[in-house]
Amino acid sequence: MATRLHAARLPIVISLVLLLLTSLIWQVPIVFTLAGAVIIIAATAFVPRRTAQNSNRQSGPLQQAIWPDTSMKATINAVRNPAFILDIAGIVRFANDAAAKAFSETRPGDLFSLTFRSPALIDALRSAAGGRSAQVQYREHVEGASVFNIEIDPVRRPGMKTGFLLLRMNEITEQIALGRMRADFVANASHELRTPLASLTGFVETLLGPARDDREAAEKFLKIMLEQAERMRRLIDDLLSLSRLEMRAHSQLTDLVDLVPLVHHVREALAPVAQELDVTVDVDLPSTPLNVRGDADELTQVLQNLIENGLKYGETGGRLEIKAETRTVAGSAVAAITVRDYGPGIAEEHLPRLTERFYRVDVESSRQKNGTGLGLAIVKHIVGHHRGRLSINSVLGEGATFTIELPVADMDTLTDKNSLETGI
Ligand SMILES: Nc1ncnc2c1ncn2[C@@H]1O[C@H](COP(=O)(O)OP(=O)(O)OP(=O)(O)O)[C@@H](O)[C@H]1O
Ligand SMILES: [Mg+2]
Repeated sequence: MATRLHAARLPIVISLVLLLLTSLIWQVPIVFTLAGAVIIIAATAFVPRRTAQNSNRQSGPLQQAIWPDTSMKATINAVRNPAFILDIAGIVRFANDAAAKAFSETRPGDLFSLTFRSPALIDALRSAAGGRSAQVQYREHVEGASVFNIEIDPVRRPGMKTGFLLLRMNEITEQIALGRMRADFVANASHELRTPLASLTGFVETLLGPARDDREAAEKFLKIMLEQAERMRRLIDDLLSLSRLEMRAHSQLTDLVDLVPLVHHVREALAPVAQELDVTVDVDLPSTPLNVRGDADELTQVLQNLIENGLKYGETGGRLEIKAETRTVAGSAVAAITVRDYGPGIAEEHLPRLTERFYRVDVESSRQKNGTGLGLAIVKHIVGHHRGRLSINSVLGEGATFTIELPVADMDTLTDKNSLETGI
């Protein structure tokens, strides 16, 4: 009450002076003058007033309907993805920091659908303006375009005649590419399986029909059938191997693996292949252990594929070199294994794609060599799991060099770990 009287002191004083003057001019009895003064003061103190909030509620909405207020802007700025506030006519009224950065050409005052042209988007904006949330996929009209999932929601605030639209843009380019890759992978895998399966079915039909009594033909066909069945088994093994690797991609690798005996072992296992293809294998291994943290089976798979590839595809060079050594890369020790052949090499344009699943430089020649096109994809996966690096260098006509680099195991940590385990 005191505050209200204090706030209204000037009008009270003026009213009282006027009251006194009129009383003097018309000689009104003092009782009436005093009563008048009391009424003025009481009215100022007790009669309810229109509050600031009430008055804002009536005059504010029209101002706020066009430009969002500060708190609304601050909230939208906290959204990490690009987000816009539009009025219901679809005009941009605010762009958050992420939107201003990613879509600098779309500024407040612009019609949103002028820069993002799409009939589906216009429909979605209309629907949101009518009070219904909408969602639409938008693909940019440029080369290597990004794809966005645009969500539009009407924003209504109490007391506002017209509202706004909150428009959020989520980039889904990668998700779409991943989905396509998965679909391609399934299609490729099915195709790779279908080929030997069709061949098997064909031979079974021939053996049941025209070649029923031809023993010589039967033997020949059965041999091919065995090869095809073998091919299917290899393919399924590789597919399972890839899926297992994907599942274990984030598992910790704690075992200590010495690469020297591993290289030796794979070389021995592939000696018959080298002999059959008439390729001399030179091995250069250090006399001390080359320890890495990893999975011995997975690393064996890597060496097997690289050495087998070198023998199969570099056969014409007649020579294969395998070298294991310690190198320093960016100040850290790495174990490097190089497999170098002297065959036809690989043209530069194929190099970045070699580790893609089912990618082969020459599909027919790879099939003849029993290749499934999954070997290097598996290698890349395993090397990545071991926090290593695979590099491929080749000059057409001069052979190819495949190198894997893996971080050398930190022996100090091993000692600490052992101490802990043994309780020392
Ligand atoms: N040393 C090499 N010299 C020339 N080309 C190679 C060499 N290594 C790989 N390639 C090419 O890369 C392709 C992919 O190799 P990758 O090991 O992934 O598959 P693959 O050997 O065909 O099948 P898999 O390893 O599953 O049996 C091969 O088909 C071949 O065209
Ligand atoms: Mg291979």
